[in-house]
Amino acid sequence: MAVLSIADSNFLDDPYPAIHEHRPAGVVPNVDHGGVWLLESDEIRRAVREPSFMSDPEKADPEAPITKVLKAAGLSIFYMDPPRHSRIRGLVSREFSPHRVKEMLPGIEKTARAVLDQLPDRGIVDLAATFADVVPMVVISDFLEVEQELRTDFRNWALTRVKNLFDPKKNRSPEFAEASRSLRDYFARKVEMRRKDPATDLIGRLVGLTDEGEGNLRDDEIIDLLNLLPGAGIITTADLIGNAIHALLTHEDQLEAVVADPSLIPDAIEETLRFDTPALSVGRIVTEETELCGHRLAEGTWVRVMTAAVGRDPALHPDPDRFQIDREHREHFAFGGGTHFCLGAHLGRAEATTALRLLLERFPKIRLAQGGDAAERRRVPGFRGLERLMVELD
Ligand code: HEM
Repeated sequence: MAVLSIADSNFLDDPYPAIHEHRPAGVVPNVDHGGVWLLESDEIRRAVREPSFMSDPEKADPEAPITKVLKAAGLSIFYMDPPRHSRIRGLVSREFSPHRVKEMLPGIEKTARAVLDQLPDRGIVDLAATFADVVPMVVISDFLEVEQELRTDFRNWALTRVKNLFDPKKNRSPEFAEASRSLRDYFARKVEMRRKDPATDLIGRLVGLTDEGEGNLRDDEIIDLLNLLPGAGIITTADLIGNAIHALLTHEDQLEAVVADPSLIPDAIEETLRFDTPALSVGRIVTEETELCGHRLAEGTWVRVMTAAVGRDPALHPDPDRFQIDREHREHFAFGGGTHFCLGAHLGRAEATTALRLLLERFPKIRLAQGGDAAERRRVPGFRGLERLMVELD
């Protein structure tokens, strides 16, 4: 069988040539994490949605490298199965509902405007560092009411965790362990504070749930959940904003269409989720021996479902490598699927749509800076975004 590594330099630059190359095989060994990669769209739909593909690393091959990392990392809801998963998700999902996100919209808009106010009126700037990366960090820090004086530490812990988690070389590093511990300690202190001094912010509301009787959240469950939010909600949303701007700046006709008619912005975001999705894959575990694309997989096998392959499947999307906002049909699994479908999907979409709308309103003549190296990809295995995005404003 051919081999695909998500930590490979070419893959980190552009995963799609390798995804297209391996798609006909459907299943290839996962040299980074153990188990297999799945790249065939019909089987991806099945693995993402069917309850026989589960998520708890306790059910996985104990020898697979990713089992050890995930057990040590304490990833909470992402890697839980029913009934625990349904209970926790049921309790917290109202915090992420469309109604709740609507209430957050004025705050998101205020944040995006304040970040734009920091940019010069004209000249060359790195929009990844000064805008795309900043807006989601501030939104999540506000959502979690992180104290101003701790925001830089919080940012560093969150980014170190998420950037190293799926990197086979770095996820056992002392930096990763230290950042994970610091973030956890920070949330443990906040939960303790809210217990002593109740409040109506997110942590206060989650703590309040524990006092309502059996079946509600315990402290360790709240801390696990909080611990996951910065990673799950920051880099993904930053990457969506950065990838959308990059796609528009490299497809001038699409940019012109959106500047002329901002009602197309939600479609531009959906097309970015298909064309240049921030999270390339989701993890599932085979719980009954099964066959995928002609390969028998034993119980306990990790299946890293390459959801990014669906968005670029030529059988589903004519000319799949073209960024085209007015597509008639579009299918993607950018937010995963089934019982684990991203809790923050409404929030992520709302942030990206608001950020893009305000950016183009302020800088309708924005263009990519001259020179071949205006954009540089992040080298974070499992994610796809931009470390640098030099643009010209006037
Ligand atoms: C554009 C931005 C985002 C993308 C692309 C994204 C992507 C994903 C993906 C692929 C999953 C895994 C789903 C699965 O296993 O089937 C997921 C789960 C999750 N996401 Fe997001 N996410 C984004 C924004 C957010 C935000 C803003 C938050 C919260 C602040 C968030 C919180 C979560 C949580 C809690 C889960 C776990 C849900 C569960 O296991 O039941 N995400 N996300």
